[in-house]
Amino acid sequence: MNEVRDVLSRAVQAAYDESVDIELTRTDPQFGDFACNVALQLAKKVGQNPRAVAEKILDSLPTNDLIDSVAVAGPGFINIRLTNTSLVRALSDHVTNDPRGFASNDIGKGSTIICEFPSPNMAKPFSVGHIRSALQGWALYKLMERCGYKVIRDNHIGDYGTPFGKWVVGFLRYSSKDKLQQDGVYELARVYIAITADMKHEKQQGVTKTADEVQDWLVKLEHGDKEAKAYSKQFNQISLDHMHHVMDRLRIETDEELGESHYVKRGQELVDELLKKGIAKHSEGAVIVPLDDVGIDTPIMLRKANGAALYATTDLATIEYRQKHWNPSKVFIHTGQEQVFYFEQLKALAKKAGYKDTIVHLWHGIVDQLNDEGEREKMSSRKGVVLLEELLDTAQAKAVELTKDGTANDADAVALGAIKFLDFKADRKTGILFDWESIFNVHGFSGPAVQYAIVRIQSILQKADLHGAPKPNKEYDWSEEHALLLELAQFPGLIMELHDTYELQKLAHYVYGLAQELNRYYEKVRVLESDEPARQARLWLLTLVSEVMSTSLDILGIPVPEKM
Ligand code: ARG
Repeated sequence: MNEVRDVLSRAVQAAYDESVDIELTRTDPQFGDFACNVALQLAKKVGQNPRAVAEKILDSLPTNDLIDSVAVAGPGFINIRLTNTSLVRALSDHVTNDPRGFASNDIGKGSTIICEFPSPNMAKPFSVGHIRSALQGWALYKLMERCGYKVIRDNHIGDYGTPFGKWVVGFLRYSSKDKLQQDGVYELARVYIAITADMKHEKQQGVTKTADEVQDWLVKLEHGDKEAKAYSKQFNQISLDHMHHVMDRLRIETDEELGESHYVKRGQELVDELLKKGIAKHSEGAVIVPLDDVGIDTPIMLRKANGAALYATTDLATIEYRQKHWNPSKVFIHTGQEQVFYFEQLKALAKKAGYKDTIVHLWHGIVDQLNDEGEREKMSSRKGVVLLEELLDTAQAKAVELTKDGTANDADAVALGAIKFLDFKADRKTGILFDWESIFNVHGFSGPAVQYAIVRIQSILQKADLHGAPKPNKEYDWSEEHALLLELAQFPGLIMELHDTYELQKLAHYVYGLAQELNRYYEKVRVLESDEPARQARLWLLTLVSEVMSTSLDILGIPVPEKM
């Protein structure tokens, strides 16, 4: 597309001695591939009517083999249709031997970025509440890696102010070794909830018995008590194992696992430094940093009145640590929308404390489901949160029906395809609706629909009994393939766009659009039954479609099944 822009901008230069940015928008295929409104932009400036401007630009168009036809339309749009040979040439240029695959680029070469995900909290089993950070975070990592960045994937686990005290008291009061052995993290969650309820109940009666016991265990742990340390090790391990197990099932992994607790000590030191510098101050026993001078009325709190560190205390040290160790140009953090204000505060704090502003907070909306009355509500089960493991189990059971000829691995791939694709159907800020029927609909806007398209191509390629990769053919005219070629040619530009906007939903829309275009193509053309040179050319095109689709799904974290 850049070549087309260049040609047009040279024509504008020749006709009017003006340099302008050329914008191309896709247009109705009966008029062309793209429409350009440069004549409308220029008309006022040069004092002519837009149609006349458009005509003059076209008269100055240098001869080239990119453009098949141009026409002036409506009030002065220029409609452009590209030649098939130029599209094939552009696509061949993007087929590289780069292991990162088709259309990877080097925008990020030499810089490091940090993608932080899924960052769950240790107190609870992995729930649907963290699925979006997991999936959005992973996809952004995949995208940025294709753009040449060195990416550090950091799982910033919520492990501070851990439920440790509640776990021990709850375990001693309500559980047993056997139960813990059997139910692991779910048993820990159960006793945690029970103790929280006890504390609430006692508080209403002015009693602090349970709260005191919880506090005692925390103090014991701080003082290195042997029994407390053993409990801590055991419970943390159970919780970590569970987190890793769910991440495995989601097929995501990270390089680092520096949780909040890793930063408590340094965070406290930094708070003291900020106090000394006069950036932080005491307020009713706590330590805060006022932010009203930068337009934020609520100060950010860095230490509680009882001396304890807070979320922001650990985040402050996290910012320092990352800068020191990796000097990232950007740090992408995914959380729910309820943390938008907190991150505004944190970014302001970072600036005041003298750190480079690198945080990009990519917040997302919640996951909804339909209740029995058919109304949307926040996704939760009768017991409370929806556990991610249960969700994956249900998805897998449903996927088995769609992969009758396939293996268990294929069913797993389709289950993940259904769940993950949903996350990218709309802007991440929009809440998503979990609707089992539509996420598995192979005829609708769904992950399995795209997976099915790839599986079908693979089966055609297998039947073609190719010896070596098919090659685009010079004699072939590609008249049936124009729409597909054009669609494919958008891909490299789309990757560039996503690099700037992080709008991953556009990739989901793109890859689904490509699958639909492919279906239209199959209706017209029998690839395997075509004569040469069409057959080779068409098989080459299918290989490319398959590659672009798999690349798109790979970025979205979606595996491709072998059969479905
Ligand atoms: N564990 C946090 C939560 O679940 C998300 C962590 C976000 N990252 C950060 N650096 N604060 O809410």
